[in-house]
Amino acid sequence: MTPTLGVGLIGYAFMGAAHSQAWRTAPHFFDLPLRPELAVLAGRDPARVAAAAERLGWAGTETDWRRVLERDDVDLVDVCTPGDTHAEIAIAALEAGKHVLCEKPLANTVAEAEAMAEAAERAAARGVRSMVGFTYRRVPAIGLARQLVAEGRLGQIRHVRAQYLQDWIADPAAPMSWRLEKDKAGSGALGDIGAHIVDLTQHITGQLVTGVSAVLETFVTERPLPAETGKLSGVGGSEMGTVTVDDAALFLGRFSGGALATFEATRFALGRKNAIRIEVNGSAGSLAFDFEDMNVLEFFDGDEPAETAGFRRVIVTEPEHPYVGAWWPAGHGLGYEHGFTHQVVDLVTAIAKGEDPTPSFADGLQVQRVLDAVERSAAANSTWTEISP
Ligand SMILES: NC(=O)c1ccc[n+]([C@@H]2O[C@H](COP(=O)([O-])OP(=O)(O)OC[C@H]3O[C@@H](n4cnc5c(N)ncnc54)[C@H](O)[C@@H]3O)[C@@H](O)[C@H]2O)c1
Repeated sequence: MTPTLGVGLIGYAFMGAAHSQAWRTAPHFFDLPLRPELAVLAGRDPARVAAAAERLGWAGTETDWRRVLERDDVDLVDVCTPGDTHAEIAIAALEAGKHVLCEKPLANTVAEAEAMAEAAERAAARGVRSMVGFTYRRVPAIGLARQLVAEGRLGQIRHVRAQYLQDWIADPAAPMSWRLEKDKAGSGALGDIGAHIVDLTQHITGQLVTGVSAVLETFVTERPLPAETGKLSGVGGSEMGTVTVDDAALFLGRFSGGALATFEATRFALGRKNAIRIEVNGSAGSLAFDFEDMNVLEFFDGDEPAETAGFRRVIVTEPEHPYVGAWWPAGHGLGYEHGFTHQVVDLVTAIAKGEDPTPSFADGLQVQRVLDAVERSAAANSTWTEISP
């Protein structure tokens, strides 16, 4: 009989639903060393959390996340709430001896992220594990990209070009949400989506961002307060609220292995819905990825004869590709939710083996330092700003 891993999940909206399906699905497709049990879902409104638990498959509910930490049927706390709550919940959970999966960005400030990384280190010494939810690492094409770089197929990495483009607030009438409030979200496009491309490019190249020069812009400073909330943006009412975060973040960067990088994160790229575009050029080859075509990785092999060389469109659905063997026959693509399932698989496997999963809270802290350097650079007229290790 496979031992169980009791899960308590906090927050039941977008990420709550994505993580719920991952906890439900992972043991049905992957041979997991621990069987996740969806023990308890926590929110604040009793009726809404009960309805969500019923819909998403959770056995019980709590209306105060602190009660989740006291429960014996919970071994792991999954934090799917906005950034202003991450540090308090995650540190308390680790101190209560619960493993933690915490959504990204790890925190709203470097100080919070430092406290979380310290708590994670103390907990790890007691066998309590933690992971930050940079989910896109688990897209098979991204896994393949990292593999190609690690195998030396790209040679020396010279350029990293990364964009995360969305358009859900391009309309000035799109209403306020917590994502547009600094005290809740920490920053805007920078922390929400820029954090992903910092993590992804570091993950693919195996190098760290060491310095940045940045600009930030808020195009729409006043928006209607929401009359009702929807998936990302909801519907606006007649009263207005003030946007206190960036709408777009652009920065140049240097990587520890000598590569030069450009980063662009915006929610104003009209027509681009979730375009995570990464191109890496090395001395021996190049690769390119776009999440809007997420089952494909483009690869250019510089060793091929010039007559026939060109970017090759690799459909990353072969059983040899990362995670894919557990799913469907070749060519039957995967989607957004599979990354979350793979995240659960890697986390549960690490816990069962007694290993620290990645990305760790220390990795999350390092990304936070990059975000902080971007903000400081932008505030100082794009001054070159080093990232302290
Ligand atoms: N990994 C990814 O790709 C990805 C994608 C989207 C969001 N995120 C991250 O996930 C987190 C949540 O984002 P979301 O899009 O799910 O937001 P959301 O607004 O859809 O959901 C937030 C949930 O948290 C609940 N909540 C807020 N404060 C709470 C509290 N004190 N106690 C209990 N519940 C509380 C809300 O009621 C809601 O259910 C954020 O950190 C965000 O950056 C990650």
